[in-house]
Amino acid sequence: MQVPLLDLKAQYATIKSEVDAAVADVLESQHFILGPKVERCEKAVAQYAGCAHGIGVSSGSDALLACLMAENIGRGDEVITTPYTFFATVGAIARVGATPVFVDIDPLTYNIDASKIRDKVTGRTRAIIPVHLYGQMAEMDSAMRVAEEYGRVVIEDAAHAIGAEHKGQRAGSVGHYGCSSFFPSTHLGAAGDGGMIVTNDAERAGRLRCLRAHGSEPKYYHRIIGGNFRLDAIQAAIVTAKLPYLDAWTTARQRNATQYDRLFAASDIPAVLPTVATDRHIFNQYIVRVPNRKLLQAALQRRGIGTEVYYPIPMHRQECFAYLGYGAGAFPESERAADETLAIPVHPELTTQQAEYVVDCIHEFFVTAGKTEKADRPIDETRLAREAV
Ligand SMILES: Cc1ncc(COP(=O)(O)O)c(C=O)c1O
Repeated sequence: MQVPLLDLKAQYATIKSEVDAAVADVLESQHFILGPKVERCEKAVAQYAGCAHGIGVSSGSDALLACLMAENIGRGDEVITTPYTFFATVGAIARVGATPVFVDIDPLTYNIDASKIRDKVTGRTRAIIPVHLYGQMAEMDSAMRVAEEYGRVVIEDAAHAIGAEHKGQRAGSVGHYGCSSFFPSTHLGAAGDGGMIVTNDAERAGRLRCLRAHGSEPKYYHRIIGGNFRLDAIQAAIVTAKLPYLDAWTTARQRNATQYDRLFAASDIPAVLPTVATDRHIFNQYIVRVPNRKLLQAALQRRGIGTEVYYPIPMHRQECFAYLGYGAGAFPESERAADETLAIPVHPELTTQQAEYVVDCIHEFFVTAGKTEKADRPIDETRLAREAV
């Protein structure tokens, strides 16, 4: 049996007529950059996120960059974030010349440990970027409390978490800005690069619209320096066509996650399963912590099962950030997560048979190959359980 990590072909087959019509419509109009299709997408995505304004941009990476630029954050400034994220989060901070300041993660949710943010606030701190990793919102109450107390800006990196929710608030709508990615493999993927910033602040929205078009306002007049961060109409039209399906896809992901929880619980696989700490986890990824991850991943690949390691090297250990001076052990939970976690297929099109096959293969690994190999780093489940209390 083949179980891809993601099955975009299967998804496309179910919505082909709508997506094809949306693309044809743009081709017919020959209006490719910004324009009415982008505006429609901005309204729809902002509404979905529970925000007043949406600003379509060229990618999730550029969304983060544009928000930092909109706040005039640069050299001499510090931005607090997590080291356990995709490069884009920290890359954006470094690209504007600011210094990333890391706070380790909560080992259960993999999100920034918000209780430790306050300790890292200095006179130079300008912003906090919580990342809603794997489809679950970071603990925003504490992050917002600190930000409000010190008058700092909060930029949510919601690239994994469109539609995730906690206490009635959607990912991206809690802070001053929320950044989404339409990278094809995300929950709401386009057919190329794209992204969206949502905000409830009209002034900030205006600044971002200006920034994404080289800071031009009116055309050919530049009071500020921006970039080409524009969303194109084909991507916007595809995203708009897919949006009505998003809730059903979320439900399917949640159903698959529950199914995995049940299958793992009924087995004796030594895996630590995802912790749901918020009201609506969208399961952009289903992450297990396992001993012998590398061997398991190879064994699953041989059995036709796609997996991924998000992310093998935390940001403070990346070569390009060596200048920050962090050594091994600086953020132990992020380092442990980077060593132990594995994403298994949870996409909406996953069948019950496929999920059972995945868990069967993992089980087989641990009763055969797993037992003959020394665990390179056994998981300390008692430690995790202790910390959960
Ligand atoms: C956490 C996170 N932030 C930001 C991004 C950047 O998004 P994009 O690929 O659209 O630039 C990604 C992309 O995967 C991501 O995973």
